[in-house]
Amino acid sequence: MTHRLASNLDQLSEQELTAKLEPELLPKHVAVIMDGNGRWAELRGLPRIAGHREGINSVREMISQCLELGIQALTIYAFSQENWNRPTQEISALMGLLEHYLSTERASLIEQRVRFQAIGRLEPLPRSAQHWVRTTEQETAHCDRMVLTVALSYSGRAEIADAVKELVADVRAGVIQPDRIDETLLQQYLYTHPLPDPDLLIRTSGETRISNFLLWQLAYTELCFTPTLWPDFRRREFLLALLEYQKRERRFGRVLSVVSS
Ligand code: IPE
Ligand code: IPE
Ligand code: MG
Repeated sequence: MTHRLASNLDQLSEQELTAKLEPELLPKHVAVIMDGNGRWAELRGLPRIAGHREGINSVREMISQCLELGIQALTIYAFSQENWNRPTQEISALMGLLEHYLSTERASLIEQRVRFQAIGRLEPLPRSAQHWVRTTEQETAHCDRMVLTVALSYSGRAEIADAVKELVADVRAGVIQPDRIDETLLQQYLYTHPLPDPDLLIRTSGETRISNFLLWQLAYTELCFTPTLWPDFRRREFLLALLEYQKRERRFGRVLSVVSS
């Protein structure tokens, strides 16, 4: 999806769009690169942080929409390892927002039975942010309706390197025989294990790149790129992305007749 979707869908109400979804064709795991917060704010003459703040409302809406639709896994890219290269002021504002979100939203996550987990190298995060991440993980550990995975200080290459490091440690310890190493085994060392790979990746703001997100897991994911900026990506936009996803033929390298037989 590189353009807004077909104009006939533009005429439909949110309810009509929802009715067009085929429940058995919904993705089980959706991943999102939430991009364009800064541009959203700049377009309005506001500081970039105002865009990040507004973006949280889009996160909240997407969680509740996933719950309504029965999508059980949502993985969102909130802060990349490369984002540490941003101005200190923006980084601290983002960390402040993260802490605020976690400390105020925990009750609602628990109420909605959403299990929260963070993936990434969390050590460089301020101690208070790490505290809220751990607390939220612990307090939502029993929640069973949906898994919300937030990538924080995350890098897909670092994730693979960390997986290899742990695997080598297990080989050294004699837990794993080197000839057992294959894709299935390596995948068990990724931060996302045991989540299934995402079926659908959405990136907002018109950029058509992966930016070091879930490099391993996206091998056969359907990619949806939309020009909409993340703070504007609301219920309707998500429905359009899901409808676009349902039109895709997922062949996994096979020929279609074999997939559907
Ligand atoms: C995405 O929005 C959020 C983060 C990367 C933290 P940006 O901050 O990248 O917004 P743009 O791309 O500059 O508009
Ligand atoms: C990707 O967005 C990271 C997140 C959304 C958290 P960026 O805005 O940092 O990516 P680039 O720099 O445009 O690739
Ligand atoms: Mg960006």
